[in-house]
Amino acid sequence: MNNTNIPSILFVCLGNICRSPLAEAALRKVAEDRGLAMRIDSAGTGDWHVGNPPDRRAIAMAARNGIAIDSYRARQLVTDDFNRFHHIFALDHANLDDIRAIAPARSTAQVSLLLDMVPGREGQSVADPYFGDEAGFEVTWRDVMEAAQALAARFAK
Ligand code: 4NP
Repeated sequence: MNNTNIPSILFVCLGNICRSPLAEAALRKVAEDRGLAMRIDSAGTGDWHVGNPPDRRAIAMAARNGIAIDSYRARQLVTDDFNRFHHIFALDHANLDDIRAIAPARSTAQVSLLLDMVPGREGQSVADPYFGDEAGFEVTWRDVMEAAQALAARFAK
């Protein structure tokens, strides 16, 4: 199902209400600005927030950058995703382990750590801002925007 020429990218964090929706929003914005066709989505490894909108602090962060994400709804990563997306990017190392643990043997997706795409930031995690304050979301936004720019540059080639 992922055998089109349009790159398809899935961002995965734990809850799908903070980091991965912001990564999705950042890449949608960068792709739109650069006129790049991409299929972009996000999911969580956990199911606690399924059906919920993003965290209000994530909604506010995106809104401050001109992006509306209040219509996003959290969903859980499913085995189908491993054949529906070319790339699955984990926001942190625990997410990466959890993604790999449920990857079906016939997965065609390339699974990797998101910041591995950013030169000089290989091996780093996007920190979980959920239990912190608003400032954490600024850091998240910077991280996912940096990754989105790197992804857009890579897929524009
Ligand atoms: P996210 O943040 O993985 O970036 O969406 C979290 C959201 C919720 C929880 C943990 C992290 N939680 O424990 O409910």
